[in-house]
Amino acid sequence: MRRSVVAGVGHYLPQRIVTNADLAKQIDTSDEWIRERSGITQRHIAADGEFTSDLATNAARKALEAAGMGPDDVDLIVVATSTPDETFPASATVVQSKLGCANGSMGFDVQAVCSGFVYALATADNFIKAGQVNSALVIGAETFSRILDWEDRGTCVLFGDGAGAMVLKAEDGKGTSDDRGVLSTHLHSDGSLHDLLYVDGGPSSTGEVGYLRMEGREVFRHAVTKMSEVVVEALEATGLKADEVDWFVPHQANKRIIDGTARKLGVGADRVVVTIDKHANTSAASIPLALSVGVGDDRIQHGHLVLIEAMGGGLTWGSGIIRW
Ligand code: ACO
Repeated sequence: MRRSVVAGVGHYLPQRIVTNADLAKQIDTSDEWIRERSGITQRHIAADGEFTSDLATNAARKALEAAGMGPDDVDLIVVATSTPDETFPASATVVQSKLGCANGSMGFDVQAVCSGFVYALATADNFIKAGQVNSALVIGAETFSRILDWEDRGTCVLFGDGAGAMVLKAEDGKGTSDDRGVLSTHLHSDGSLHDLLYVDGGPSSTGEVGYLRMEGREVFRHAVTKMSEVVVEALEATGLKADEVDWFVPHQANKRIIDGTARKLGVGADRVVVTIDKHANTSAASIPLALSVGVGDDRIQHGHLVLIEAMGGGLTWGSGIIRW
């Protein structure tokens, strides 16, 4: 059975760090409120003239370097983002050009907000499994700072900018859960929950980019339930148990959501990769960023079982199990 094996990961964060104390100088908030409600202490914010494609390209270069591959060694580029440089073309084609790919590869974007990376990974994995490509670069990249209403303290304190990337390569496995690579992915959406989390603009509606709007409490309520359910679905599909998972790498939206989901699944805090404190919620970038941090500090190692899950605007939600 063809498997999509992780060949390398990398990430990039903009240089500028904005702390909770910095925000408290501009809006009616406090370090204590933000930390207690979300676990966030700081976020990175892209510089003027620094675009989502720049963040994505920097992360991609690091992932390719880790994989020992060059820009012409990837057949497919999938970028998960809700904050593209332009309405079109797809960020993936901009990244393709910035990387200098000249091998006739293909690239497109996937838009599933904070679940974007799980959707992009599932897409690339299925292209590999179908035999249409032999390698893929899967990127989550966002500049959410550009779609925040900086006067809405209920949302602007929660998000940050960043990018993470993963290189996948086709390998033959036995078709069992001992194989290396993506073992399963599970995706869901429910468009009737639009009003809980959306951006109030777009090319076809207002003609303007718009700002993120969120019913925080309602999103929170759905998050723990839906993410726990989709993780159970992944475990059942692979015949694996929660205690076999080496690393739980959830979407980084809120420390309380992460703790609640881990508790529900019976995964100890020592097996959860948490980056929300330093990165805030970087939407589609948060999982590949956290994976790259976990690999960078030697927590995630060859052969480890890694469980990812996310929920985002749509609502969309999904999970995946990867043997590293
Ligand atoms: N600083 C100080 N006070 C604030 C702030 C702030 N930044 N923001 C809101 N408050 C106030 C509110 O005005 C309210 O005051 P009131 O009681 O006088 O009316 C009080 O704090 C409580 O507000 P709530 O919104 O009820 O606070 P809650 O405990 O629910 O926490 C939060 C809010 C952190 C947003 C939480 O609901 C949450 O994390 N929800 C999930 C969000 C999430 O995961 N979003 C990402 C999804 S991913 C994606 O797709 C983008």
